[in-house]
Amino acid sequence: MDDMPGIITENSALIPGYHRLTVRLERPLGKVSPGQFVMLKVPDPEVFLRRPFSIYDARDRTVTVMYRVVGKGTDALSRARKKAPVMVLGPLGRGFSIPPAGACLVIAGGIGYAGVRMLLKRLGKRAALFLGITGKTELPLLSDLKGVEVLTATLDGSHGYHGNVVSLLKERFAPHRSQGPTIFACGPKGMIISLKEFLEPDKVPCQVSIEERMACGLGLCFGCIAETKDDTNPFKRVCKEGPVFDLWDLSL
Ligand SMILES: Cc1cc2nc3c(=O)[nH]c(=O)nc-3n(C[C@H](O)[C@H](O)[C@H](O)COP(=O)(O)OP(=O)(O)OC[C@H]3O[C@@H](n4cnc5c(N)ncnc54)[C@H](O)[C@@H]3O)c2cc1C
Ligand code: FES
Repeated sequence: MDDMPGIITENSALIPGYHRLTVRLERPLGKVSPGQFVMLKVPDPEVFLRRPFSIYDARDRTVTVMYRVVGKGTDALSRARKKAPVMVLGPLGRGFSIPPAGACLVIAGGIGYAGVRMLLKRLGKRAALFLGITGKTELPLLSDLKGVEVLTATLDGSHGYHGNVVSLLKERFAPHRSQGPTIFACGPKGMIISLKEFLEPDKVPCQVSIEERMACGLGLCFGCIAETKDDTNPFKRVCKEGPVFDLWDLSL
């Protein structure tokens, strides 16, 4: 883990409100596990705290994130131009642990796709992606994902299954069940909770990446707590002990 200066080389809108940002760093980020994140200093003096973003891709001296504009920080970031200087702290947190063999189902809700994209690249043909989006206008977010089976659920019914992604999983899970799959998920809290309700009877192995607001990203401020079932120390720091947790360890 390192705090490094970099220069923005790409900050393009893939679709309105969703951007992909690439930063050329002074040095390589080092070894990155899928699911790890960086704390990015937005190049705007009015945005003081860094913002956490999953590592979408990292190679040589570049790191890429994909983000949705939701507030002041991401709005300012979306206006940052090429060649603007940024500070990047990372890689941070505990990522997904990939089983040596076996089928993997990856569930992503909306911008949660950014949190599993690197995992999908690592898993390749072993993975099937269940993607939940609002409508087909969001499909371009997947434009650089190749070689992975994708099953899409849209809330407006404009592409694939009409409904939410957990309902799609329920409908298609039967043939996968016998393969003893591992499930990975990243998305809104409501999605994680309904996924848990569905998987609960069989306690299917499942790792989830969760989000909390973060100030330091380093485990120092205790501002990003998630409650777990650990009797002795139930409160875990999402930035340090997470953001990836075993679903069955979390108190949701
Ligand atoms: C480990 C981690 C990885 C993340 N990866 C990505 C990613 O790859 N792409 C992406 O678009 N976003 C990601 N996020 C969320 C992202 O950090 C926030 O959207 C961003 O910090 C919002 O900053 P803002 O100033 O634009 O919004 P603010 O003005 O701070 O907030 C706008 C709204 O978003 C909510 N919000 C802000 N931060 C969070 C958060 N961390 N969790 C839940 N709700 C929040 C606020 O409550 C508010 O409703 C990640 C968060 C974490 C913790
Ligand atoms: S953000 Fe400070 S401890 Fe997690």
